Amino acid sequence: MSKPTFYITTPIYYPSGQPHIGHGYCTVAADTMARYKRMRGYDVLFLTGTDEHGQKIETKAKEAGVTPKAYVDAIVANFQKLWELLNISNDRFIRTTDDYHVQAVQKIFKRLYEQGDIYKGEYVGKYCTPCEAFWTESQLVDGKCPDCGREVQEAHEEAYFFRLSAYAPKLVQYYEEHPDFMEPQTRLNEMVNNFIKPGLEDLCVSRTSFTWGVPVDFDEKHVVYVWVDALSNYITALGYENGRYQDFDRYWPADIHLVGKEIMRFHSIIWPAILMALGLPLPKKVYGHGWLLMDGGKMSKSVGNVVDPFVLCERYSVDAIRYFLLREIPFGSDGNFSNEALIGRINADLANDLGNLLSRTVAMVEKYFGGTLPKEREADALDETLTAMAAGLGPKAEAALDGMQFPTALTEIFRLVSRCNKYIDETMPWALGKDPEKRARLATVLYNLLECLRICAVYLTPFMPATTPKIFEQLGAAEDLRGWESARVFGALPAEVSVHKGETLFPRIDEQKELAALAALQEKAAAPKEAAAGPEKKPEAKKAEPEGVASLIEIGDFAKVQLRVAEVTACEPVPKSDKLLCLQLDDGQGGRQVVSGIAAWYRPEDLIGKKVVVVANLKPAKLRGALSQGMILAADAGENDVKVLFVDPAVPNGSTVR
Ligand code: ME8
Ligand code: MG
Repeated sequence: MSKPTFYITTPIYYPSGQPHIGHGYCTVAADTMARYKRMRGYDVLFLTGTDEHGQKIETKAKEAGVTPKAYVDAIVANFQKLWELLNISNDRFIRTTDDYHVQAVQKIFKRLYEQGDIYKGEYVGKYCTPCEAFWTESQLVDGKCPDCGREVQEAHEEAYFFRLSAYAPKLVQYYEEHPDFMEPQTRLNEMVNNFIKPGLEDLCVSRTSFTWGVPVDFDEKHVVYVWVDALSNYITALGYENGRYQDFDRYWPADIHLVGKEIMRFHSIIWPAILMALGLPLPKKVYGHGWLLMDGGKMSKSVGNVVDPFVLCERYSVDAIRYFLLREIPFGSDGNFSNEALIGRINADLANDLGNLLSRTVAMVEKYFGGTLPKEREADALDETLTAMAAGLGPKAEAALDGMQFPTALTEIFRLVSRCNKYIDETMPWALGKDPEKRARLATVLYNLLECLRICAVYLTPFMPATTPKIFEQLGAAEDLRGWESARVFGALPAEVSVHKGETLFPRIDEQKELAALAALQEKAAAPKEAAAGPEKKPEAKKAEPEGVASLIEIGDFAKVQLRVAEVTACEPVPKSDKLLCLQLDDGQGGRQVVSGIAAWYRPEDLIGKKVVVVANLKPAKLRGALSQGMILAADAGENDVKVLFVDPAVPNGSTVR
């Protein structure tokens, strides 16, 4: 009999900026699921990759002065390096610039055109370049992109359209007949209320204003809309419409598309409609996970609060990071990333509860029995709660993992760890060790602990694949005692098991020292001029420009900075911050909001009506949850004094400063 198959995907990532720990979150979750299913005997295909076309990439490459392909090649290499570092066990990696994919997308597009699902028309609407998303006027929020809050551009052009509107009734019917199609369940309501009910419009699926994309082969001035190109990866990577792979029949439909909540719309509406048009079955599930937040904002390259996963792994170990990501945040909800929470988890759960339990147990087997347990046993009623809990863990871990409830699975596993620590307090092996009559009892206690540790390690393997082999080594658990099924039986370790003391799994971190070291690192990163070459300098963080040189710039470099005069129309403190003020500016261009760290020197009412200079083309950032679209100029007026540069009130709002 052939094994059941399991096909799981992550989104394919935009290589428009370096990978951050938010990308790692999704990929680690998918990896854990893939490892779990493999352990349970499934024939797994785990796919990830990169989504390399589109205007955003073209623009970034132009800014960097390189070809789009050269630009993405460099960043894709870093994504691949990160997946290797994080122990990601993907079976395949797709790049949308791969020839077989490009050709398959052309065939898909042509087929949809020939059968009338795609038609030619004219596009009038709004486009958000950073998100690569079209919006209709009614979808905008305050005239801005509803996803990221940034400015959108007018878009007018001859374009091809996909008849998305025609699929609305079929989609609704499909959702009704497949109540588990979207998870968590709240995502279904979001999709229906926000997109389906207001009415689906046909989707613009080609662009002529840039060229970095898959050319429409029968109308070469068009490139295929990047999302149609990207979504197709899930089938082209199996060999759909190409000869590179032959796995379509074996793995399609996918079991799970794991995606972030902001791209749920593409996966649960647009992608299913395209599949329906192609006459293909739909994926069994689209799971929309939440965001990893930092200071309340979604972590991403464009909002400037990136946490470098390479640094995190180097400092804390890959498995500590994997554990933290899947333990700390209820899967499906947003959660905060902080170094304090990370260190707290490492110390409490990994160093203290798990690490200590292992080292204490192994040390006692060595101390009292020279490393090998005798086979004599003496049971006690005390043992029963422990062994019952160990025997009941499998079904609980499975139920949680099958439902993608990673934190629940880890909580259950660590309940057994805690129970073992309590069992040590109850049985007091150090007291038994003093009594020669109690050797059989002592051996039983230690055996039970070793066996519980083995069972925990089996269930932890999908989460911490680098750590559990070390645990098995120390426990003396042979290969055949490491598989999922082997953990169902309590008592599988040989009676006369031999342990092997090993290194500490997770050394305890001195929290105060570590937080100080991190603050120093951050300061260094923020002020590259003062960066000294020390042991903490990390090669990956190298910038293209030499650091520490106050270099001269060309007039053209300065011209890149757009400075404008703007009037402060409103101003208030940012909640929960004693440094930040939130200013509303009339910049002569429809207004903008800027957050500035000047609360120590100005009261809000001091600023209203004043004219300031704003850096108008600075990338937006979130500061304490407040969106800042630019910055205002101020001078360091002394050791601890700051003065905003005010402008003559006669200068009209919006005037350029040069
Ligand atoms: O959207 N927390 O690519 P992308 C959690 N190319 N998840 C995060 C995150 C964070 N802070 N930041 C990013 C795209 N992600 C498209 C996908 S699929 C056919 C095309 C997640 O690189 C995000 O939610 O912007 C998304 O699921 C994934 O990273 C890729 O984001
Ligand atoms: Mg995105």
